[in-house]
Order: sequence, then C-alpha cells, then structure tokens
Amino acid sequence: MNREDFPMLKKDIVYFDNGATTLKPKVVIDSINKYYKEHTANIHRGDYEAAVKTNELYDGVRELVSKLVNCNSDEVIYTSGATMSLNMVVFGYMKKHLKKGDEVLLNKAEHASNVLPWIKLREEIGIVIKYVPLNKNYELTLDNIKKYVTNKTKVISLAHVSNVIGDVRDVKSIGKYCRDNKILFNVDGAQSVPHMKVDFKDSNIDFLSFSGHKMCGPTVVGILVGRKELLEEMEPLFYGGGMNSFFEEDYSYELKSIPTRFEAGTPPIAEVIGLGEAIKYLQKIGMDKIHDYEIELKKYLLEKIKDIDNLIVYNKNTDSGIIAFNIDGVFAQDSAVYLNHYNIYVRAGNHCAKMLKDELSIKNTVRISMYFYNNKEDIDKLVEVLKNSKDIFKVII
Ligand code: ALA
Repeated sequence: MNREDFPMLKKDIVYFDNGATTLKPKVVIDSINKYYKEHTANIHRGDYEAAVKTNELYDGVRELVSKLVNCNSDEVIYTSGATMSLNMVVFGYMKKHLKKGDEVLLNKAEHASNVLPWIKLREEIGIVIKYVPLNKNYELTLDNIKKYVTNKTKVISLAHVSNVIGDVRDVKSIGKYCRDNKILFNVDGAQSVPHMKVDFKDSNIDFLSFSGHKMCGPTVVGILVGRKELLEEMEPLFYGGGMNSFFEEDYSYELKSIPTRFEAGTPPIAEVIGLGEAIKYLQKIGMDKIHDYEIELKKYLLEKIKDIDNLIVYNKNTDSGIIAFNIDGVFAQDSAVYLNHYNIYVRAGNHCAKMLKDELSIKNTVRISMYFYNNKEDIDKLVEVLKNSKDIFKVII
C-alpha cells in the first residue's frame, strides 16, 4: 500500500526492518522542511506570525495523539522517544511511589528500555523484579502473570507487542486485572501503536510509551501518555525554561501544569510537527487496515517458506507482522549480510532483548518486521533468496 509516498522505496530495496525504524512518507519530510524553510520559530515564546503558526502546529499534535490512542490531550507528553518515556515513568513516578520490597513483574522478552531502568531502580531503592515465564510459544499470557502476582506486586510492565517474538499481549485483560487488583500497568507501545489500534482508556493503561520514528515520523520524538492523576504526582526529570511559572531569589518556584511541566527547554519542534503529519497519514489509511494487511502479508510469507526445510521460524502464530527465524546452522548476522547482498534489509542479533535467550535457547535471530508499504513482491524476492541459502557462504565470503 501507498509505496509511491515513500522516497526511499524508489531505490531497489526490500525494507523489512520496520521494528527498528520505519521509512518516512513525503508529507512528513515536507512538513519538517516547511518548518525550517518557512516558519522557523521557538514555541511558546514569540508573538510574531511564524511563532504563532508553529505554536498551533506543535500544540495541535497532542490532540492528534489523544485521538490516536484514546486519552485526554493533557495526558500527552512529548519526549525524545519510547526510551525516554519509560525512564520518566521509572525515575519520575515509580521512584517516588515504590519502596524496598515492592514487586515489579517483567518478562524475559522485554527490550532493554523496559528492563534496565527497573534494574537501576532496584539498585537505588531495593524493589524486587520478577520475570514471568513465557509459554511454550514464547508468548506472555495473563495466566502466567497471575501465578507471579503476590500482595507485594505493585507494577506490571510489558511491551504490548514484543519486539522479537511479536506476540500481541492481551493488554485489555491484563489492564482490567491490574485495575481490579490495584496494580500499576505500564505499557511499552513502541511496536504496537504504529501497527494497530491501541486504546489507552479502554485497556486501563496507566502509562503508555511509544516512539515517532517507528510510525513514519522523525527520529528523536516520542510520546508518554500517563493517567492524569498519576502525572500530577510524577516528578519532572529535567528543569529549565518553559516548564516553570516563576522562580525567585528565596529559592521558591512554581512549575507549570501538566503536561508542560515535563517539557523543559526547547523541545523537538520540527519532529513533533513531523510526528503530527505521520499520525494524520496513518489514520487516513486506518490502523485496523494496517494491521489486517500486515497479517495478510505474514500469512503469505509463512505459506511460501513452509517447504524451505533449513529455516527455523520461532513465532508462526503471533498476530503481528514480525517474524523471527534462523537459517539452520548459520549465524544470524551472516544471514542478514547474505540478504543485504540482494538489497533485502532485515535486522539480526539479539534485538536489545538480551534475556530472551534464556527462553528461546538461542541468542540471535534474524527478524523480518513488516509495514503497510511492504507487498507480496517483497516477500517473493525474500523467499527466492532464502530458497537458495545453501549458497550463502559462496555469496558472503
Ligand atoms: N527497538 C528497536 C528494534 O526492536 C530498535 O529494533
């Protein structure tokens, strides 16, 4: 779908690394260029024409995000990406509200950005981290989560869609369970918000993080959505201009209301504007349509590769466009180099989910992650190359 909108696709490439970052449509690139060429100004500081236009565009993106994920617009905080958002949750909110011995449930398929901040918090205040085991398909289920909940469990933190296995966690049921049991529910939406409908309110999510660059937007902009009453209790991690109402010689100061309080300094203005265009662009296509199309592609791919007997696929049944595999006996990175020889771009390695090896019994995989601009011809090219993978070492050496 919509391939003509993507300048990168004019090159003869097959881009299957959308879990790492997505390509950018012309409308997004144009909106950023326009800001730099026609109405460069800082936000919330100028009274001249360009500043007013920039303010409008920049502030308007909160409304777009609120419609995309169903939250209130004052619950939307601009960040530099999902990593910063998750760090804000852990060090801005959890550090203040958790105490020694409180339990946080994670799992071993999580990306570094939803594990390391918790490990650091454990070091600082003595929380207890427990890893909920995955099922035999390497998926995280509510049944397994329940087995690990105790009366000390204060937080369940997980990716909505895991970035290697691509299982779609049942956030609606998990969220309800959390709310019923007074457990905070922290969701990393980096791999879900770009690909499917995500409903912050309906899923009883307390904090939701995601990145712009994985959803056709620019790099270095992301979003943290937080439930209003929790944001009121969250500490900013950065202090400076734009987020205070006053400060005086006697050390008194007052912070602005949420969400501005969390956006000290000049923010990523061009990037927020670009993200707004990306959201409009995705919504024009429709999030359900994007998801259904990716699943159609995935089924097509799985059907085509089912008779290639030297392929090991780890996640045939998941409901996302992510496929993790290995060519039997071949180091994952060698497979990626082999595919690159035919202009097929994939990611190989541990994909920052460095504990998944304990569940998968293998450290590295090759990952295909699809998006709506992929098509069946992309898959045909990939399959053809994989069919000839007996020649891999002739090609890459
Ligand atoms: N988190 C990104 C990925 O999974 C970078 O590739």
